[in-house]
Amino acid sequence: SSRALQPRMAVRSASAVTQILTKLQKDCATPLPILRHVADAMANDMRAGLAFDGGSDLKMILSYVDSLRTGVDFVRFGGDERDEKGLFYALDLRGTNFRVLRVQLGGQERRVIATESEQVPIPQELMCATSEELFDFIASGLAKFVEKKGGEFCLLPGRKRELGFTFSFPVKQTSIDSGILINWTKGFAVSGTPGRDVVACLNEAMRRQGLDMQVSALVNDAVGTLAGARYWDDDVMVAVILGTGTNACYVERTDAIPKMAASNSQSGTTIVNTEWGAFSTGLPLTEFDEEMDAESINPGEQIFEKTISGMYLGEIVRRVLLRMTETGSLFGSSIPEKLQTPFSLRTPHICSMHQERSSDLEAVGSVLYNEAGVDSDTEAREIVLEVCDTIVKRGGRLAGAGIVGILEKMEEDTKGRIFGKRTVVAMDGGLYENYPEYRKYLQDAVMELLGPELSEKVVMEHSKDGSGIGAALLAAANSKYRHST
Ligand code: GLC
Repeated sequence: SSRALQPRMAVRSASAVTQILTKLQKDCATPLPILRHVADAMANDMRAGLAFDGGSDLKMILSYVDSLRTGVDFVRFGGDERDEKGLFYALDLRGTNFRVLRVQLGGQERRVIATESEQVPIPQELMCATSEELFDFIASGLAKFVEKKGGEFCLLPGRKRELGFTFSFPVKQTSIDSGILINWTKGFAVSGTPGRDVVACLNEAMRRQGLDMQVSALVNDAVGTLAGARYWDDDVMVAVILGTGTNACYVERTDAIPKMAASNSQSGTTIVNTEWGAFSTGLPLTEFDEEMDAESINPGEQIFEKTISGMYLGEIVRRVLLRMTETGSLFGSSIPEKLQTPFSLRTPHICSMHQERSSDLEAVGSVLYNEAGVDSDTEAREIVLEVCDTIVKRGGRLAGAGIVGILEKMEEDTKGRIFGKRTVVAMDGGLYENYPEYRKYLQDAVMELLGPELSEKVVMEHSKDGSGIGAALLAAANSKYRHST
């Protein structure tokens, strides 16, 4: 009956839209008690994961990197005194691209003489290809780089070029230069790799490419970032990645790791890779998170990552906007295909909308038009900005709570270790680097949780591309030729 009366363009139902927004804001709220709860749960889950493998969502992976005594002694192995000198390569496989680096290390005075690098995007289709296809693609990118840059590199007879391999996925390390992929994350669904040694996968691919190199260190990106940052600054105790995915690692005392077999760590410490992306306790989640998770390629997994990291923030926003259009005609009656397409709206897009300062929100309008295929008026754009802010605020604040959880766990074990002096948290990843509002929310949460006095001890420092340099340093530290120099 009402059909004839309906205008051609459906009129926005302000109340339906407001209802969705209000509920979203309520479900995503992160007042202090929730942050507190998350920080405590993070600390508890860390302990449980350190007790035995499978003890909690947090895998608490042992990195086999334990020679970070002090910066200058970075690579002193049991009195075998040498320093990290020479030319080393690093390969950094992240979420959406991989990087190859060539690093010239100058030794003793902590010098990186020169670095050259190249970044190669990973084609979408390779993310669900076979293991051979993925590793062949990487090895051929590396081969091209080595060929282009390697001319002047004079190898001593019998020596191979050495490589630090940063592999940013959960790997059960079996030594500093081997480890088995536990499972893919961040949208990768490459068949045949889980359960295999990823160094062997890379070695085989390098052989197929006729590339004679040897992997001296296999590291997670968070671990590489910590090692890289620690090279310059002895106070670095934690590293956090906020990019496509998210993770954190920290310097743990070996006697606080029940699951660690007899340790030969001279320093009494080792880096533990938390794989905190898998954390899930006490998070404020919405129906949109649940739907996104259910439709993802790894349902039920990586819940913290799906709430706070760059791969997912844009997608959550898209899902909210789609619902607002379906039930409240936020952008009129038509529902363009783009808006219905998963991952069409990406975190860099919501970031650029978030930067809008003009009163008619024109830039927001053009992002919405280009990326979601919708026409919008100022009122709709204002709502979109509220949605972006809600999702980004929750993400940044929860990331901050996670960091505080780690710091408090470390401090509780050894009073004064963290808050008794300056402590540096090395931060990296595109989300942290490029999204100022996210960064601000993160810092606010850390401040609220720690209070002014303690938060003054904690310095969050951007360690740009530290993981590549860190991997090269670790390759040098674990050089197969260390006894022959
Ligand atoms: C994912 C991976 C983890 C990595 C992080 C950041 O969470 O599982 O290993 O460190 O992304 O790249």
